[in-house]
Amino acid sequence: MGGVRADLLSDTLTRPTDGMRSAMAAAPVGDDVFGEDPTVNALEERVASLLGHEAGLFTPSGSMANQLGVRLHVRPGEELVADSLAHIVRAELGAAAILSGITSRTWVSTRGRFRADDAASLMTTGVGPYQVCTSLVVVENTHNFGGGTVQPIEQIRRARTLTREHGVAMHLDGARLWNAAAATGTALTAYGREFDTVSVCLSKGLGAPVGSVLVGSRAAMQESRVWRKRFGGGMRQAGILAAAGLWALDHHVERLVDDHARARRAADAMAEAAPGSVDPAAVETNIVVVDVAVAGWSGPDFVATALHRGVRTYAVGPGSVRLVWHLDVDDAATDHAVDVLTDLLRSGPAS
Ligand SMILES: Cc1ncc(COP(=O)(O)O)c(C=O)c1O
Repeated sequence: MGGVRADLLSDTLTRPTDGMRSAMAAAPVGDDVFGEDPTVNALEERVASLLGHEAGLFTPSGSMANQLGVRLHVRPGEELVADSLAHIVRAELGAAAILSGITSRTWVSTRGRFRADDAASLMTTGVGPYQVCTSLVVVENTHNFGGGTVQPIEQIRRARTLTREHGVAMHLDGARLWNAAAATGTALTAYGREFDTVSVCLSKGLGAPVGSVLVGSRAAMQESRVWRKRFGGGMRQAGILAAAGLWALDHHVERLVDDHARARRAADAMAEAAPGSVDPAAVETNIVVVDVAVAGWSGPDFVATALHRGVRTYAVGPGSVRLVWHLDVDDAATDHAVDVLTDLLRSGPAS
């Protein structure tokens, strides 16, 4: 976008680097619907092993990977339970209801932080033909609309114990699980092993142009392969895309801590400029949610004014704005964003 010097709209905006493009061009390919694309197969195996699962399935999007997870665990007429701000209930446009014929119920959290008791309080099983049966708990880590919140591993483990007792499955929406692992040092396998299925995105902070991977047991992934085709996600020479994912895993994981440090630096500056606008302690990864109402702004007005000065942001509520750091926002862009955003917070809207 012309004139934008710091694009903090989303970490989905990144463009493939030259190295990534070369890897894509050189990728050996085959027909993946027949399971014959060596690069897709390599990516699926690699991600499954990173997360401690038997098998993986490459999908065009995180939404499709999530919906395949839902389809696996929840039968029509049953329900999933999740955080009220979870992407799977808030931003997948009713896909679970439309594609799988299921209902969803939600708990309310602070900044998306997961607590096993919140999930347990909704779980309904063994009540015969009277109430909807809960079949799946969905956890999002990190939590996007919560502001990049990292989920506590002990709460996840406790939920695993409780769900097992009730025969309820667990799916992890790990679109940004890479960020959670980078922020905490917790191994990906430690998160992965607590879930029946995990979806991870290559097209967010990792900088690939397209692609997510669902992991689970071999049998589950075989079933999901059938559903992926039904959902219209069977791709052919998709190795060109999978190569970008492999490149991202090799080159863009370790640098995630740079995004976190830049987000933290900006959060500190904004908290100083307008106390109460940001809680720096709440900034755990690459996402910062700013309460611009504290400085008298509406979210949309703040976004429009910041854009006019070269900083693109996103209004997540009437008085709050989200900023996301990623591969294409360097130190200079962060400096510019800090200058503009702190200035707007200090000055408030023109009356
Ligand atoms: C937490 C989370 N899950 C899933 C998705 C869906 O990914 P996609 O846009 O590839 O469908 C997103 C997208 O931003 C997300 O933030």
